[in-house]
Amino acid sequence: MDVVKDEEKPLHIVMFPWLAFGHMIPYLELAKLIAQKGHQVSYVSTPRNIERLPKLPPNIAPLINFVKLPMPKVDNLPQNAEATTDIPYHVVQYLKNAFDKLEKPLTHFLQSSNVDWIFHDFAPFWLGPVASKLGIKCAFFSIFTAPLIGFMGPLSVLMGNDPGRTKPEDFIVTPPWVPFQTTVAYRYFEIMKIADILSNENPGGYSDIYRLCYCMHHCETILIRGCTKFEPEWFQVLQNIHNKPVVPVGQLPSMSIEYSNEDNTWSWIKEWLEKKPHSSVLYVAFGSEAKPSQEEVTNIALGLEESKVPFFWVLRVQRGPTDNEVLQLPEGFDERTKGHGVVCTDWVPQMKILGHVAIGGFLTHAGWTSVVEAVQNEKPLVLMTFLADQGINARVLEEKKMGYSVPRDERDGSFTSNSVAASIRLVMTEEDGRIYREKIKEMKDLFANTTLQDNYIDNLLNHLRSL
Ligand SMILES: *[C@@H]1O[C@H](CO)[C@@H](O)[C@H](O)[C@H]1NC(C)=O
Repeated sequence: MDVVKDEEKPLHIVMFPWLAFGHMIPYLELAKLIAQKGHQVSYVSTPRNIERLPKLPPNIAPLINFVKLPMPKVDNLPQNAEATTDIPYHVVQYLKNAFDKLEKPLTHFLQSSNVDWIFHDFAPFWLGPVASKLGIKCAFFSIFTAPLIGFMGPLSVLMGNDPGRTKPEDFIVTPPWVPFQTTVAYRYFEIMKIADILSNENPGGYSDIYRLCYCMHHCETILIRGCTKFEPEWFQVLQNIHNKPVVPVGQLPSMSIEYSNEDNTWSWIKEWLEKKPHSSVLYVAFGSEAKPSQEEVTNIALGLEESKVPFFWVLRVQRGPTDNEVLQLPEGFDERTKGHGVVCTDWVPQMKILGHVAIGGFLTHAGWTSVVEAVQNEKPLVLMTFLADQGINARVLEEKKMGYSVPRDERDGSFTSNSVAASIRLVMTEEDGRIYREKIKEMKDLFANTTLQDNYIDNLLNHLRSL
């Protein structure tokens, strides 16, 4: 651990992520790295979210102060729902209403805590003026990558002052502020699935684009999960379109993550994997938030069967207890794949599974934490996107040949079991897919080198002190 020099007072930094595990986990990783440098970190969320975070290593646990703000009550939000993973997609707007009601208790905490900086997510559009009044500086920490934030564009476009970003079709082409050739854009079916982020006539109040826009408008600096060697041209785009510093914080590889219920779960999974040949098993998981449709699940299942590749599939059959669209596997699927594949509907230690030698590929939704964990473990990717930033992530991975997207219908995103099977075989075993297996290995140093990651944190802390 580096100890802060006497003449430099440690900073007190507050972490305030959006209520989704895909956000809370990278915020926690960054919190750990900063706390290890001798700074004071307060991690703010609601009680049930904090209780569900991974355990911290004993040397770091005392360095992070967890602040549990009571979950505000709002209409239409089920009891005990505190994160996106607890509720169906169409209920997330009410979670945002509840999140906005954290303004008062958060302000109260900030007033009484001598805070230097608050690192916030895309959601609290109201935070900038509050922090400014208290003399606290704001950093927008984007768990979204540089290509996603670059693709979203300058504030004038986000504010809707510029013509050109009003229809879904505007999101499927390279925008004018991107000066190089790239395939990075949404596909039609991807943008249609998230059309609600574009609309300010959202019953939840404010669109995600509105939120992102005001968070970027008010902050002193923009911090991005990523590294300049991986995506230099996109960091350049960000420098060009935003009138404020843009600082990469590294890929935040998962380090020594442990969950409290981990040991029991891991022992049976390990036992199952031990019986399989090296690099023979496909790991299938779509993160804590993405939930495929019933038709998609059926085709994924039949595709897995057709591929003849052994698989370990983590399938969330519902988003929280109030989700009544429970996913079903095809009839007879369990018997036909017995011994050959596992479908697990509970939480699993993903990093441990990906680290096992039996795993030879990863069918993923392309959430960036999953991507980073795959690169750390050198597992090539088969991509199937569902929501949010996943489409843009997938384009980046396709361009860099780190992953191959299952072919889909451009208009409705549908796909066949046949194309699932062919994509799996391509990435895992066929000669034509060798490039995916090689490229993912090449990227490991860029994503998981601890010296490099450490340099990003030093650079970040110097940057914060310079403002
Ligand atoms: C990590 O990066 C540093 C600096 O570029 C380099 O010297 C070192 O060899 C790398 N470590 C590994 C394990 O590749």
